[in-house]
Amino acid sequence: MSAQTRVVENVPKGIYVAGEWREARGGGSFAVEDPGAGRALCDVADGQAEDAAAALDAAVGVQPDWAATPPRERGEILRRAWQLMTDRVEDLALLMTLEMGKSLAESRTEVLYAAEFLRWFSEEAVRIEGRYAANPSGGSRLLTMKQPVGPCLLITPWNFPLAMGTRKIGPAVAAGCTMVVKPAQLTPLSMLALTGLLAEAGLPPGVLNVVPSSSAGKTVGPLMSDPRLRKVSFTGSTPVGKGLMEQAAENLLRVSMELGGNAPFLVFDDADLDEAVDGAVIAKMRNNGESCVAANRFHIAGAVAEEFAARLAERLGAMKVGHGAAEGTQVGPLIDGDQRDKVAELVDDAVDRGATVLTGGSAVEGDGYFFTPTVLADVPRSARILTEEVFGPVAPITTFGSEDEALALANGTEFGLVAYVYTQDLRRALRVAESLETGMVGLNTGLVSNAAAPFGGVKASGFGREGGVEGIEEYLSTKYVAVSIG
Ligand code: SIN
Repeated sequence: MSAQTRVVENVPKGIYVAGEWREARGGGSFAVEDPGAGRALCDVADGQAEDAAAALDAAVGVQPDWAATPPRERGEILRRAWQLMTDRVEDLALLMTLEMGKSLAESRTEVLYAAEFLRWFSEEAVRIEGRYAANPSGGSRLLTMKQPVGPCLLITPWNFPLAMGTRKIGPAVAAGCTMVVKPAQLTPLSMLALTGLLAEAGLPPGVLNVVPSSSAGKTVGPLMSDPRLRKVSFTGSTPVGKGLMEQAAENLLRVSMELGGNAPFLVFDDADLDEAVDGAVIAKMRNNGESCVAANRFHIAGAVAEEFAARLAERLGAMKVGHGAAEGTQVGPLIDGDQRDKVAELVDDAVDRGATVLTGGSAVEGDGYFFTPTVLADVPRSARILTEEVFGPVAPITTFGSEDEALALANGTEFGLVAYVYTQDLRRALRVAESLETGMVGLNTGLVSNAAAPFGGVKASGFGREGGVEGIEEYLSTKYVAVSIG
């Protein structure tokens, strides 16, 4: 049996409720596809509203016991899960590559990144603290404690099938919350593998319940109006996030939203150009460009723009495109035909309006959903690619004259997730970082993602933070007790 067949066969394909794998109500299933080959890999149980309701019943049932479980115990389960994930990096990476498309090297990096959230929050579980203070006017004491929010609904995207799960599951487990997880329809296998692994690490039945489904709206949608649910955390598009916010209003759920981005990549004329090009390759090409923190548009100082564009085109043009599991592949397929067509449409629009293709520029014929790494120069300000999230391997380049103009371009978007800035002038670096309307800034680096740092955005990119010391706060409520001391 090939390694590919083995990793797919070994994954449970059911719904996970109260520590048991079961079929979906009605016995239905949906196909999971390999986007590098354009063929089905396997079928997965298609969860229904009844399955989601059973999952919430299970989560609600064990919530009190789980909240009362010693933090050290909760942390040690996460720590064991981190160990299991790192021990199994090769199988998990292959599985992820098969269902999502990214290269094996990228998948290995994601497995370790995902595991790191479990280790980080294993360490945070034992640092949930409160306060004890004297009333400023005397006579009593103010006691403040942190308690788990309660049962959570966690909805994860297809682009990082493990990491976007562990950075919600890790803090929820650490805080003492139970949960229902709805993995992305396109990439449920990695989450199902993680579910088995967390059970093996000792996570008690009912704490984590997982409902794969071909329709989030029909399956977990009804949970949003169940008063026993206390929180929803979502990573995905801004329009879907807005819809969930409206639904969350009904029960005043705690909400965390990690939504779309339109990251500017600014290179000033005093930047180290070698570093800027290296950073651009990472910020653009990580995850095939299918990331909400991918550099979406490059604004380059006029004096260095031509050289920067030529060097970036050389680097992207040399990248090996192929099936993610093939030896040497650097750029895998896009997730599906719709995504590839959208990228092609944005490139065509820019070219029609006058942009110049320096490398790439088209989809690859044949099986799978490939698009060649592309650099576009002289992109006019009216091009859609500068305002819409590309989610693909395309780097559109425009120029700016002054720092004020660079900032106006960077901030001229409804989104505010991340911005990248290259400059060697410390004063400018801090001035620009302070003025950018984003939740994160990469200063002379093309990678901000780190389990120990607070990931999240402002404006239409959402709110709430995942990772860092902030990450666990999303799963905790503050209770204040007024203490009379007589
Ligand atoms: C995302 O694309 O949603 C986040 C990626 C990351 O954590 O780097």
